[in-house]
Amino acid sequence: MSQSLATVAYLGAAILFILSLGGLSNPETSRRGNLFGMIGMALAVLATVFGPRVSPSGIAWIVGALAIGGGIGLYAAKVVKMTQMPELVALMHSLVGLAACLVGFASYVDTSIQLEGVEKTIHEVEIYVGILIGAVTFSGSLIAFGKLNGKIGGKPLLLPGRHWLNLAALMIVIWFGREFLRAETVEQGMVPMVVMTVIALLFGIHMVMAIGGADMPVVVSMLNSYSGWAAAATGFMLSNDLLIVTGALVGSSGAILSYIMCNAMNRNFLSVIAGGFGSGAGTPAKKGDAAKPQGEAVPASSAETAELLRDAKSVIIVPGYGMAVAQAQHTVYEITKTLREKGINVRFAIHPVAGRMPGHMNVLLAEAKVPYDIVMEMDEINEDFPDADVAMVIGANDIVNPSALEDPASPIAGMPVLEVWKAKTSIVMKRSMASGYAGVDNPLFYKENNRMLFGDAKKMLDEVLLALKS
Ligand code: TAP
Repeated sequence: MSQSLATVAYLGAAILFILSLGGLSNPETSRRGNLFGMIGMALAVLATVFGPRVSPSGIAWIVGALAIGGGIGLYAAKVVKMTQMPELVALMHSLVGLAACLVGFASYVDTSIQLEGVEKTIHEVEIYVGILIGAVTFSGSLIAFGKLNGKIGGKPLLLPGRHWLNLAALMIVIWFGREFLRAETVEQGMVPMVVMTVIALLFGIHMVMAIGGADMPVVVSMLNSYSGWAAAATGFMLSNDLLIVTGALVGSSGAILSYIMCNAMNRNFLSVIAGGFGSGAGTPAKKGDAAKPQGEAVPASSAETAELLRDAKSVIIVPGYGMAVAQAQHTVYEITKTLREKGINVRFAIHPVAGRMPGHMNVLLAEAKVPYDIVMEMDEINEDFPDADVAMVIGANDIVNPSALEDPASPIAGMPVLEVWKAKTSIVMKRSMASGYAGVDNPLFYKENNRMLFGDAKKMLDEVLLALKS
């Protein structure tokens, strides 16, 4: 393939990626968005493999690597459960970071690249910055993976003087950067580069370890953004325009998502960027008065729940992580259909950080074919709870915790929540009185107008559906 044909193919792929992002912004166009992304990626891979920069003898290596990597990817996509998706995404981000590091080291030792003067300096800056971002993304994403699958505890690790530690690490990295640029041979440059890589790896671990469970959504989207910048840095190192454009798209869309997540959690975007997260609302739980149980948690049966639903005119369903674990979305849809056939107004309230990844609940509900027009964002529906007869919470906890609004000492203080307790009756469906991801007690369970329907969400909803139909 000639250089000009490869450039046209890259341009086409870049346009398809932009169309893909546009399509993914709305559930109704998201399938098309995915398709655009897939075609764009296929075009990009083909144009790269058969492009002018790959020698024919290299193609066999690439095809072999594609077969192995593609096979692993296909297998992982097939076996991964929806609830493990955030962990898988974190793991994939770590691979992008690792790739940026490896490409950086390879570019540095590549003797075929002979540059002089300013061009050499620019290339070395690209390598240094690329490895820096890649290493932070790599180790940070691995820790996020551990935190998301529960292998690493959700409690923030708050080392004494941690901001000073970070600042010292930054200064050392800048100083070694200077040494790296002054090095005259590859051997001389290797020492500062390895030192910087080790510091960046430690920084990535420290940064994510310092973040409390409640702030993890911000971390997930920040690492998403970092992985984009790592890819863009790789593009600079390899002088690959498409990788630069794609990396910038992922990096900036991840940054926008982080901003949205920060708003959803009432966190300051700038303090997050500056590495200030984990402090304030992220500090370990110091329970204030509002977090203490005020009354008795009243259990309800599935028959009573069905009764409450049948008598209601307006029902708001709040899905959370437990619905994903129980895979209860299809039964939720059946119940919704049954209630709507009875003329009951049923709507869904989606909290921006419900579940374990952005859009987690929307994906599950779309999979179960719940109509989009009754699925509302938090801001659209939060004021309607006082008019609802029943608010049914399915496997959600932190996102409906009143202590976020009522207890300034709560670790989730200030986070906007779905105010289900304002409905005439709220029903919380979960297996026990255990806390949610943030590890915070929930005073909602003890409110007078709240009922607890204990059990696995799928099992209990099946019983509710049966009772509704009988
Ligand atoms: P959580 O607060 O984690 O609560 C989920 C509840 O589901 C648990 O209390 C659990 O109680 C219940 N549950 C688990 N398995 C169940 C089952 N099979 N049947 C019924 N209930 C079950 O979830 P949430 O309310 O969706 O809030 C999300 C939390 O995750 C927030 O703290 C958020 O910050 C965090 N987070 C979000 C993201 C993103 S981007 N969305 C990423 C990382 C972290 P039992 O054990 O008693 O059943």
